[in-house]
Amino acid sequence: MKIFVDTGSLEEIKKANDLGVLDGVTTNPSLIAKEKGVDFHTRIADICKIVKGPVSAEVVSTNAPGMLKEAEELIKIAPNVTIKLPTIAEGLKACKILSDRGVKVNMTLVFQPLQALMVAKAGATFASPFLGRLDDIGHDGMNLIREIRTIYNNYGYKTQILAASIRSPLHLVQAAMIGADVATVPYKVLEEVLHHPLTDSGLKTFLEDWEKSHAAKA
Ligand code: E4P
Repeated sequence: MKIFVDTGSLEEIKKANDLGVLDGVTTNPSLIAKEKGVDFHTRIADICKIVKGPVSAEVVSTNAPGMLKEAEELIKIAPNVTIKLPTIAEGLKACKILSDRGVKVNMTLVFQPLQALMVAKAGATFASPFLGRLDDIGHDGMNLIREIRTIYNNYGYKTQILAASIRSPLHLVQAAMIGADVATVPYKVLEEVLHHPLTDSGLKTFLEDWEKSHAAKA
């Protein structure tokens, strides 16, 4: 499973990239807005200098011509820019046009399996089901990933399932077991993934024993 980091923060992206396992980045208008005073295009360019994998940059137009115009500017930034479009009718139209031209598209805000089927038919590179937001309203977000996996397998769609709105390492485990192609995670969750109390206490014991044996020899 590929791991993307879901943030607009250069600091977090650098730290995630330094781990050596980062495959890409997703951003959205809310994440970019958290980065006070930052120019959107400059920030995407800066991210692309750090990460070679797909970097999702989201449009804010709600009609296909506007989305295509924004996409034109965004794809000039770097070859790894992926255009992120909302899963609405106008987004679907723009997705088909861009995908036919070989532009990578990430269709975002997917909340039910038929949206995922439609974006695959329109040639999207990624479909982004939002797990956490479904859980937030009492639905089973993980079941959406399961349904999309089955549908894509049934028909051999190549669109990658990008599990999004991930809130915990457990989400990540479950998405991996179902067979999501990609998971995009907040940096905080990426840090949590590497922590286990038994790893910490085991390492502490190893180091203490090493010190004791060396102190004895000295
Ligand atoms: C994905 O591309 C989105 O940016 C993201 O995962 C949304 O997550 P949230 O529901 O935690 O805002």
